[in-house]
Amino acid sequence: MEPPAWPTVPTSLPTAFLSRYGPRALILGGSEGIGLAFANQLAAAGFHLTLAARSAATLEQAAEAIRSDYQVDVQAISLDLTSAGIEVRAREIIAGGEYGLVVYNAGATHGVGLFLDQPADRALNLVRLNCTTPTAFAHHALAAMRARRRGGLILVSSMSGLVGSGYVAAYAAAKSFEIVLAEGLHWELARDGVDVMCAVATLTDTPAMRRSGMVEVEGLTPMEAGDFADGALRALGTAPVWYAAGDAAVSAVRSTPRPAATAQASLTSAQLWGITPLA
Ligand SMILES: NC(=O)c1ccc[n+]([C@@H]2O[C@H](COP(=O)([O-])OP(=O)(O)OC[C@H]3O[C@@H](n4cnc5c(N)ncnc54)[C@H](OP(=O)(O)O)[C@@H]3O)[C@@H](O)[C@H]2O)c1
Repeated sequence: MEPPAWPTVPTSLPTAFLSRYGPRALILGGSEGIGLAFANQLAAAGFHLTLAARSAATLEQAAEAIRSDYQVDVQAISLDLTSAGIEVRAREIIAGGEYGLVVYNAGATHGVGLFLDQPADRALNLVRLNCTTPTAFAHHALAAMRARRRGGLILVSSMSGLVGSGYVAAYAAAKSFEIVLAEGLHWELARDGVDVMCAVATLTDTPAMRRSGMVEVEGLTPMEAGDFADGALRALGTAPVWYAAGDAAVSAVRSTPRPAATAQASLTSAQLWGITPLA
């Protein structure tokens, strides 16, 4: 596989987007891949940004490129979203800036395997990254947005969250949490002028997925990160959940009996990471 290209910036968002969700967005997991695509798209629309991720060097590289390309203010926060005390950090970060838009993007599984072949902490980290920490950020960010009576929160999930799957059992379960959390919060906050949405990604070409050992599978063409971010931002405010793969793909999963859908998802996970599936 060729290295992934710098995420493309499609056509501009409508100008009303900046007045509704600006002037600053916080992107958790914003230094590369899908998060960086959100960052580029928002900077192109005139947003100032705060990007968070673990690697300070990658963050600074991304921040500097965006400052230079779009002349917006970009701040970088180096942190591990699975670390102890993250709930307190979430409160401090949200209190430290007036964020009209928060994108909780970090959450991919870096490598796969059978649940019992891996240390328990691997699964627990996925739960922290996709359930505990987004809940903390959602609580603090939405409280501030509700007080201002405007704002938006996007949680990035996965088609894996639609049904249980072998080889990514904890990942799939954790990603389903984000979908269901967004549905409930969308209902609760809509009356306060605050938009909550889960953006459900399908297979997407990102540095993290390449590093995780994913292989090319015939018939499965990854989406570009820029297209995903663009679609998600345009869908914000229109629905509680936006599926990048399209509603027909979701219906196909939902109309399959659950055990058969789990068997299919497990087979696909094995194929994507080059594992010989269980008999
Ligand atoms: N790519 C796909 O095929 C695909 C498919 C379905 C769903 N998704 C979803 O899309 C989202 C983005 O996926 P992705 O492939 O771009 O990879 P990702 O690893 O979820 O996201 C990469 C970004 O998150 C940061 N990050 C990762 N773990 C972190 C942690 N513990 N603390 C702080 N920052 C962290 C990374 O920087 P650092 O590494 O420097 O921390 C980077 O900025 C995820 O929620 C994933 O579940 C992706």
